[in-house]
Amino acid sequence: MDKFLINGPCKVKGKVSISGSKNASLPILAATLLFDKPVIIKNLPRVKDIKTMLNLLKSLGSKIILSKDKKTVKIINKKKMKTFASYSLVKTMRGSILVLGPLISKFCKSKTSLPGGCLIGARPVNYHLSALKKLGMNYKIKDGYILAKTKGRLKGNTIKFPKISVGATENSIIAACLAKGKTILKNCAIEPEIKDLTNFLNSAGAKIRWSGRMCKILGTDSLNQTEYTVMADRIEAGTFCVAATLTKGNLEIKNFNPDIIKAELELLRKVGARIKIDSNKLTVIGPEKIKPIKNIKTREWPGVATDMQSQLMVLMCRADGKSSITENIFENRFLHVGELQRLGANIEIKKNKAFIYGNTKFIGAELMSSDLRASVALVLAAMISNGKSSINRIYHLDRGYENLEIKLKKIGVKIKRLKK
Ligand code: EPZ
Repeated sequence: MDKFLINGPCKVKGKVSISGSKNASLPILAATLLFDKPVIIKNLPRVKDIKTMLNLLKSLGSKIILSKDKKTVKIINKKKMKTFASYSLVKTMRGSILVLGPLISKFCKSKTSLPGGCLIGARPVNYHLSALKKLGMNYKIKDGYILAKTKGRLKGNTIKFPKISVGATENSIIAACLAKGKTILKNCAIEPEIKDLTNFLNSAGAKIRWSGRMCKILGTDSLNQTEYTVMADRIEAGTFCVAATLTKGNLEIKNFNPDIIKAELELLRKVGARIKIDSNKLTVIGPEKIKPIKNIKTREWPGVATDMQSQLMVLMCRADGKSSITENIFENRFLHVGELQRLGANIEIKKNKAFIYGNTKFIGAELMSSDLRASVALVLAAMISNGKSSINRIYHLDRGYENLEIKLKKIGVKIKRLKK
């Protein structure tokens, strides 16, 4: 298993370009199962989860033609596709549950593995299943699989999600595209990645309209050929903004629309970062002193993203005073705290709230990654630690950050990957 060696402390400066969004690419790739005609998707990030999703589509019968730089894919489906999404593939990437909606909508049957939980929480899919059931899907759970089928086409319906869920919203929108009649989804998640998905589907002739958290879909018989460029990754962009704020750096972050991290930029300005915004890039200058923020709360979009929580925690460890972070989305998303404490952080957890006592002098240490976003927090902490740190199990990072060590090295971080 590869690991990173990082020599701190360092300052980031120069320019970094943001890759395509993993969390926009996954539902868009899953939705290609709806198509009879070839689809071209551009700006895919070269990360493990995308490879896993492409392998899953291949296992279902899609023909996958990847460009040399692996950022563009042409997908051609067969008339008759398989509808079995195996545990061996689904267990490595929970986002695979997103093939359930298109399979049941296009092929009227599917045997999809339950994704199971992960370290940040149980990650149930009850909202996905109850919404698809309202569209006409019948299912039973057997041996860890969802055995689903429909008598003929799904039928449009009105569905109100009991809780805001990114995945359940995506699965339902994709399934409703080929359902008979109108579907109205209420209390939807409205993350930018979901709007990217609906822009992609509308570019192929789907009829999807938004009004606040309500989404209206008029089912069509089929979708047209299309070519679509995936949006940039807002969590990667936010992570580099935190890196510049943390290290008193001066960093130009380009190739993305700064509007997609408005809430996080507001926080960084509050802690003292100077941020100059252009249309598809911004420059962050880190402050001499980082101001603490009393109560950061993660929220569904347009609030502060839960996927930015661990990165912001590292920033608050360096703040000049006490701050707190409340995690409102996942039940167990403080796995990075233990590792940060090993670097010298003074953090107290009470239920879903972390109290951070600031002014931490991080000392380099041997660290263990646990999940994708917790791992990048360890990289940030190692960058401002005195001395050498090594971060093990960075396959977690490789799931969602494209060429992270190459990008960091280019902006002044002393980092190298040890291949094991
Ligand atoms: C998506 O996960 C993202 N993953 C996550 O990013 C992100 O953290 C999350 O949305 C929240 O923004 C992808 O897009 C592939 P949810 P998802 O359904 O869809 C509960 C990363 O690091 N829930 O909005 O699984 C759930 O347990 C990943 O890139 C149910 O109870 O998130 C959670 O507490 C991590 N039943 C809350 O809702 C359900 O049927 C929000 O989950 C579905 C969800």
